[in-house]
Amino acid sequence: MKRWILGVCGSISAYKSPLIVRELLARGCQVRVLMTESARQFVSPLVLQNLSQFAVPFQMFDPSQQSHGSWHIEWAHWAQGMLVAPASANCLARLSQGVAEDPVSLVGLSLPSTTPLLLAPATDSTMWANPAVQRNVRQLLQDGRLIHPPDSGPLASGHVGPGRLPEPSALVGWALSRSGPLSDQTVLITAGPTRERIDQVRYLSNFSSGKQGYALAQQAQELGAKVILVSGPVELPAPPGVELVRVESAQEMLEAVQARFACCQLAIFCAAVADFRPADCHAGKLKKEDCGPQLSLNLVRNPDILAWAGQHKGPQQTVVGFALEAQDAARHAEDKLRRKNCDWLVLNEVFQQEAGLGAEANRVSLLSRTGQWHHFETQSKRDCARSILETIMGQSESRQELPEKDFQN
Ligand code: CTP
Repeated sequence: MKRWILGVCGSISAYKSPLIVRELLARGCQVRVLMTESARQFVSPLVLQNLSQFAVPFQMFDPSQQSHGSWHIEWAHWAQGMLVAPASANCLARLSQGVAEDPVSLVGLSLPSTTPLLLAPATDSTMWANPAVQRNVRQLLQDGRLIHPPDSGPLASGHVGPGRLPEPSALVGWALSRSGPLSDQTVLITAGPTRERIDQVRYLSNFSSGKQGYALAQQAQELGAKVILVSGPVELPAPPGVELVRVESAQEMLEAVQARFACCQLAIFCAAVADFRPADCHAGKLKKEDCGPQLSLNLVRNPDILAWAGQHKGPQQTVVGFALEAQDAARHAEDKLRRKNCDWLVLNEVFQQEAGLGAEANRVSLLSRTGQWHHFETQSKRDCARSILETIMGQSESRQELPEKDFQN
């Protein structure tokens, strides 16, 4: 989701609002800011205007904003989501009662019904506990508004209890995750290489960086999914808001997937799993003197995690595999999709320059179970992840060619 309105109300925690704007911008969103009159006691509109690069309107009939009719209607239709943080008790009351008396409640009440309105209340703990405030919160939840309960801790008043505005990164992560088209889905993703131990200090592995799998996890999270990322050893930080399960070997990856597969609706197998592992892992460290002039490793096949998922998937589950092919790519991909019983197969054609393993960019094609191909240009792994997810969800621009299988069902 890209276009956000941030509503700021009068609360000491309004000092966090510039950081919320920055966090939204850092995650690729555009932001416009609205403030109540009380909010302007706590933070300067100029700060928010400069950061968001949009003027902050104050009045219902502000002539400087009325370029195409009422500005609040234009704003409400521009937004793809609205976050009110901090939301004061007063604002909760107005939104729950339908009173449009300030810019925040005015636009909040003008949003189309499909645009999510998210509220992060911040008040003193006694005010938060007040039955009138709680009644308004219940009403807002009943109306389909999303509410992040305040954090507990020391408050400006000196009291300790619930009332704090959560930290901006947590709040923005929550807002993005609760507002996308995947918000009712759990997505399981495997990523990175596996390591297959030869002894306690050596292993077999491959050059997978995990970047494409991590980009998929981040994008799925930003589209609203609950994401479980089962990752082999990589150098990447955990994507925010994603449940990261670290594994080392193919066997561990299989067990991690088996324990979580039943709860996911979409499973994407992006990991470069080692096909073979040493038949025995030598206890301690192999000494070269003990090996003689040559060392032969006896390798056995690893379990195929994607094939296991293909065999065990239910009618509500979508399974996506990856294939890395050098020659005769389309035929191998079609064969792999059938053999592993995938719904989709993402084909990476090696060895394109500046794309693929370890690179920042990737060029993939996506094959559906019905044999339709979707080809994408070389793009960043983030955009590639977005293209893959949007195609699978049937929401890409080439929607008419898209799958007969409805992802939401
Ligand atoms: N995969 C897996 N478990 C394995 C091997 C592969 O889950 N033990 C998954 C990968 O995550 C990927 C797909 O299967 O989704 C790749 O299949 P694979 O048969 O390994 O294809 P390639 O890597 O393209 O290799 P090959 O050329 O050997 O077919």
